[in-house]
Amino acid sequence: MSFLLKHFLYIFLLFNLCSIVRANTPPSSKQLETYRVTITNRDVPNVVVGCDDLGGQVLKPGDLFSWKFRMNIYGTNQYNCRFYWFEDGNIRKFSEFPLFDEIISHRCGIWLFIRNRCYWSVAQDGFYYSDKNASFPGSDWSKKNDWNDI
Ligand SMILES: *[C@@H]1O[C@H](CO)[C@@H](O)[C@H](O)[C@H]1NC(C)=O
Repeated sequence: MSFLLKHFLYIFLLFNLCSIVRANTPPSSKQLETYRVTITNRDVPNVVVGCDDLGGQVLKPGDLFSWKFRMNIYGTNQYNCRFYWFEDGNIRKFSEFPLFDEIISHRCGIWLFIRNRCYWSVAQDGFYYSDKNASFPGSDWSKKNDWNDI
C-alpha cells in the first residue's frame, strides 16, 4: 500500500471514529449541568405535590416549591409528579405527569446568567410551563396539562 493511501485510510478511520463518538453522545450536551425546577401555585386553594423521592409539599396560592439537581451523564434525569387539588377537606382533582424529562430539559431557560431554569405554574385551569420566571398569566406560559376529575 502506498504511503499516501495508508495515511488517507488512517485519517478516514479516525474521522469515522469521531462521528461514532459524536453520535453516541446525548444531544443535550448538558450532562452534569445544574438544573432548577420551580413550581408555583397560582390560584388553587391547596395543592399537594409529590415528585418521586422529593417528599410531599403543600402549596397555598402564591407558594412555590423548587429543587435543584445535577444532570446525569446520560442526560436522562426525570421527575414524575403527582398533584392533588384539595378544597374543603376533599380531593377535587388529580394529575400526574413528568415535570422534568429530556424534552423539557432542552427548553429550560437562563436566569441571571445561570442556565437551566424551568418554571411550572399550577392554576385552576391546568398546568403551564415557561423557560423564565414570567408574570402569570402571560404569553410566556404555555399550557401543558390538565386536571383530571376524581
Ligand atoms: C419569580 O418572581 C416572583 C415575583 O417577582 C418572585 O416572588 C419569585 O420568588 C420568583 N421565583 C424565582 C424562582 O425566582
